[in-house]
Amino acid sequence: MLERKIKHFVVVVATVVTAFWFGVNWTPVNGQQAQGQAVQAQANAEETMEQKYKNIQALKGLPASQMRAMMNYISASTGMTCGECHVKNGDQWAFEKDDNNHKVIARRMITMTMEINKTSFNGRTQVTCYTCHQGHDHPSHVPPLVAPKAAEAPAAAPAPKADEILAKYVQAIGGKDAIEKVKTRVIKGVSVAANGQSFPLEINFGGTDKYTLSVALPQGATTQKFNGSAGWLKNSREDRAMDASDIIRAKSLAWSLEPAQLKEPFMRLGSAGSEKVGDKDCWVLQGRLPDGRRVRFSFDKTSGLLLRRVVQIVTVIGIDPEQTDYDDYRDIDGVKVPHSITTSYLDRNYNSTRKFSEVKHNAKVDDALFNLPAVKQ
Ligand code: HEC
Ligand code: HEC
Repeated sequence: MLERKIKHFVVVVATVVTAFWFGVNWTPVNGQQAQGQAVQAQANAEETMEQKYKNIQALKGLPASQMRAMMNYISASTGMTCGECHVKNGDQWAFEKDDNNHKVIARRMITMTMEINKTSFNGRTQVTCYTCHQGHDHPSHVPPLVAPKAAEAPAAAPAPKADEILAKYVQAIGGKDAIEKVKTRVIKGVSVAANGQSFPLEINFGGTDKYTLSVALPQGATTQKFNGSAGWLKNSREDRAMDASDIIRAKSLAWSLEPAQLKEPFMRLGSAGSEKVGDKDCWVLQGRLPDGRRVRFSFDKTSGLLLRRVVQIVTVIGIDPEQTDYDDYRDIDGVKVPHSITTSYLDRNYNSTRKFSEVKHNAKVDDALFNLPAVKQ
C-alpha cells in the first residue's frame, strides 16, 4: 500500500523533508489566482470548502484549510489510499470526479458521521470514521477475543498541579531570565526524511513566529519563509505563497523553534494523567489554543523538560493530530535547546526529524530575510 502511495506523490523526498504537500496539487483553480485567494482568506474571513474546491457536497461551509486534515484523517481511519477513492486524468489527479464508487460511499459516510454527532452528541466530534473503521475499510462486527489481563498495577502517586509542572519546566530549560535573553537562533543541521535519507538544513529563527528554512536536496534547495502571518515556499516544482493549511504547519514549526514552548502568562492547562514518551515517564497537561485546536504537552517527570507536544485539529468527522517530539537537549548559553525535533502526521510519508549540529543565539538575523516576494496576480 505504501509503495502505491509513494508512486502517487511525485516528489516524495521534497515533501517529506519540508513536511509540506508539494506532491499533490490541492489547488484546483488557476494556480496564480488561487495563491492570491489563499493569502486573502487568511487575512479576512476563512475561505470555505466549496469556494476552494470543485465538487463539495458533504463538507459545505467548513474551512477549506481543513481539507488536508480531513483527507489524511479519512485515509488513516479506513486504511485506504487517496487512489482508492479518487481517480486520475492521465497523470494528474482529478479529485473532484465521482467516478470511483468508494468516494460516493465515503461521502454518504461523512454525512452519516456528521448527523450522528449532531443528533446524539450535541454537535461535538465524538463518533468519527475511526470509531467504526479502526484503520480498516470494512469495520469489524465481531469483538476480538482477548487473553485475561495481568494483575492491575498499583495506584500511581497523584499528579502535581499544572502550575508546578510548568514552573519546573521553565526552571529545567534555564529559568526565565536566560530564556528571555534569546532573541534569535541560527541553526545548522540535517533534516532526516521518513525514508531515512538526510539533507543539510539551515534555519534562521527571527523571534516569535518568524523563520526561514532551507534544505539542500539533490534536485535543488527547498526553502520556506514565514513572517508570522504569511509565508512563501520554493522548490524545484513550485514557487508560491503558503496557503491556509501550509500556514498552520509553518506556525507549528516556528513554535518548536521558540526557546520556551510555554511562556507566561501560561495558557489554561489541565492535568491529563501520565504517559510514556519513549522510555521516559511524563506528566501530561492539556488545553486549547486560541484558535480552538486541542493541545497536549508531555513533561519528563524527572528532568521536567518538555518531550512531546500534540496539536489536534478537530474536524466534524474526526481528529487530525500533529505530534512534535523534542529530544537531545543541550545547553547553549544557559538555555536547554532540543537538538532533535521530530514531527509526525497521520500520513507517515510526511514525518521528518530535524537534527541540529550548531545553534547560535542572538547572531544578527536580518529582518529583510522575512520579506516575501509580491504575490503575482
Ligand atoms: C475513503 C475515501 C476517500 C479517501 C481515501 C480520500 N478521499 Fe478525498 N474526498 C473524498 C470525498 C467523499 C470527497 C468529497 C467531499 C464532499 O463532497 O464534500 C473528497 C474530496 C477531496 C478533494 C476535493 C476535490 C474537489 O475539488 O471537489 C481533494 C483535493 C481530496 N479529496 C484529496 C484527497 C487526498 C490527497 C487523499 C489522500 C490523502 C484523499 N482525498 C483521500 C473521499 C476520499
Ligand atoms: C457508525 C459506524 C461507521 C462510521 C462512523 C463510518 N463508517 Fe464507513 N462503513 C461502516 C460500515 C459498517 C461499512 C461496511 C458496509 C458494508 O460492508 O456494506 C462501511 C463502509 C465504508 C466504506 C466502503 C468500503 C468498501 O471497501 O466498500 C467506505 C469508503 C467508508 N465506510 C468510509 C467512511 C468514512 C470516510 C467515514 C468517516 C467520514 C466512515 N466511513 C464512518 C461504518 C461506519
